[in-house]
Amino acid sequence: MKIFKSISSIQKYLSKQSQIAFVPTMGNLHQGHLSLIQKAKKPKTCIVVSIFVNRLQFNDKKDFASYPKTLKQDLEYLKNECVDAVFIPTEQEMNTNHSEFKLSFFNLEYQLCDAFRPGHFEGVITIVMKLCNIIQPHYLFLGKKDYQQLFILKNLMREFCYPIKIMAVPTKREKNGLAMSSRNGLIQKKYTTKISELYNELMQIKKTCKSLIHIKKVELRAFQNLTKNGWIVDYVSVRSQKTLLSPKNNEKKLVALIAAHLGNVRLIDNIEFCI
Ligand code: PAF
Repeated sequence: MKIFKSISSIQKYLSKQSQIAFVPTMGNLHQGHLSLIQKAKKPKTCIVVSIFVNRLQFNDKKDFASYPKTLKQDLEYLKNECVDAVFIPTEQEMNTNHSEFKLSFFNLEYQLCDAFRPGHFEGVITIVMKLCNIIQPHYLFLGKKDYQQLFILKNLMREFCYPIKIMAVPTKREKNGLAMSSRNGLIQKKYTTKISELYNELMQIKKTCKSLIHIKKVELRAFQNLTKNGWIVDYVSVRSQKTLLSPKNNEKKLVALIAAHLGNVRLIDNIEFCI
């Protein structure tokens, strides 16, 4: 496994590769990340993983500072997965502390997480575009747990004519249903018995939402249940898989999304379903 810190060195290495699969991460790797890598493994494909905690996508400075960093362990995991190349640029190399440009987007502005984390998706799309320009992958592997991120990045690639195929990978879960996330390690022990409640509410929505007229009711019930159980809920929303907006008359493919805080940790999760 080769490790690169500069743009020029990784580009030189990649210029000799014919097929590139790319998994961007912010480190603190877990089974969810590893499942992206496992999906990316194909013969004659060079697997590149980036580890870069992107300051631009943190609307809260404290959140950026406390983001878990576990580089030594991350590299162990990547070596075990037989990853070909790891890109670990510095902020200086990526120019994120003095950026003169930032991308913005209009569809889904103020929707879902964008209403609660202003600037977050601008930071994500800016860095992913930059990383894709550096790596020039054929395949970009992203998790479905970050559903809105996945949706926005798909649109970005299409609109800017990137010759990159986005591969969406299902969410990996703990036995209790909790979606794997780098933030899970920050959840306080006293909440251990509560963490499955978020996924349980998603499952309940999937089970009971049988038609578009049920949406408001199931959203409200999940919101109230979580609030009653001590969660601070940002949103519970059932959307169209196709547009990520409120579903129209004949839409059948839906997704329920929740963002809620347990103590000082904000968790997001979602579930796709059909009616
Ligand atoms: O999903 C993440 O970990 C990040 O948003 C990403 C895609 C690596 C960009 O920094």
